[in-house]
Amino acid sequence: MTTKALRRRPYLPGLSLGDYLDFIEDRFPAFARVLWFDRTGGADALGSLPRPARGGANARADLQRHARRDPMAGARGMRALFTLAAGVTSPERVPRGWNVLDPLGGDGVLAQVFATMAPQAGHAVITSDVAGEMVIEALRAGLPAVRQRARFLFIRDEAVDAVLLAYGTRRIPEADRLLVCQEAARVLRPGGRLVIHDFEEGAPLTPSGGARRPVAAGHPRFTAADMERCLALSGLHAIRVHRVHDPLVLRKGSAAEARALLSGHLLDTVGPAVFRDGSDWVAEVPRVALVAVGEKRPAAGCGTPGLAR
Ligand SMILES: C[S@@+](CC[C@H](N)C(=O)[O-])C[C@H]1O[C@@H](n2cnc3c(N)ncnc32)[C@H](O)[C@@H]1O
Repeated sequence: MTTKALRRRPYLPGLSLGDYLDFIEDRFPAFARVLWFDRTGGADALGSLPRPARGGANARADLQRHARRDPMAGARGMRALFTLAAGVTSPERVPRGWNVLDPLGGDGVLAQVFATMAPQAGHAVITSDVAGEMVIEALRAGLPAVRQRARFLFIRDEAVDAVLLAYGTRRIPEADRLLVCQEAARVLRPGGRLVIHDFEEGAPLTPSGGARRPVAAGHPRFTAADMERCLALSGLHAIRVHRVHDPLVLRKGSAAEARALLSGHLLDTVGPAVFRDGSDWVAEVPRVALVAVGEKRPAAGCGTPGLAR
């Protein structure tokens, strides 16, 4: 299919692919250069994106949940993820020009949180999601965003410094997981890093001393062995699995409000810790995340580990 024909295809709610590309070219020219819709199989991948009528109900429910949620609630874990992705000691040290793809990005929570931690880095996070409603929300928030399935990215080879598969990895069907990692490895620059995050099955989700209950049922989570296998079979090296403190922290003006806020998230499954921190009351659910990192081998004779350029 010609690029002209592709441009006429519906892509986002109310927008053709051509409308979207014109918008990105205007707002994010550097990002526009890494987009690759006319790759082999691109037309089929575009056609297989869920139509709003089918995918819309789930995406709307997700959006409502997201709107209720404090984006900074998971900031501690996100900070660790960005640090591992960039191979630096803190997000504040990420230089302008470094970029990371967030293929399960929803409406751009990670991008927004990263912007507060690392304003010097500019629009470093490329938000990406299969749901058109999510991508439209991210674009409305002023973020570079693209609609695509994690297993088939409309992104050129070796175009990004890092890929972060996080906060939603359990939604990737098991049969697709290796493909998703291989696709992520394809778009990494030499020396770039793929980070996979999931919450560990059976890990405690309660404060010490509280009654332990299992995490909510759903799709199987990644195990450490799954992560290592996916990274290795994607050709990555220097693979490490970390256990990362990734609590959910909610702040309100009173203990009652903090408790009520947490109840919206998790109260029926865990007993939260609620404590005072200065003028805030803090409700915290400790969570341990499994985070695996693998690096693309540097091209011969060049490349700075962690900050591929
Ligand atoms: C639990 S939400 C998390 C969104 C975001 N990371 C956050 O923390 O708010 C997971 C997102 O992944 C998207 N998603 C699920 N499977 C996907 C796939 N195979 N490819 C791309 N996006 C996918 C969903 O549409 C959803 O917006």
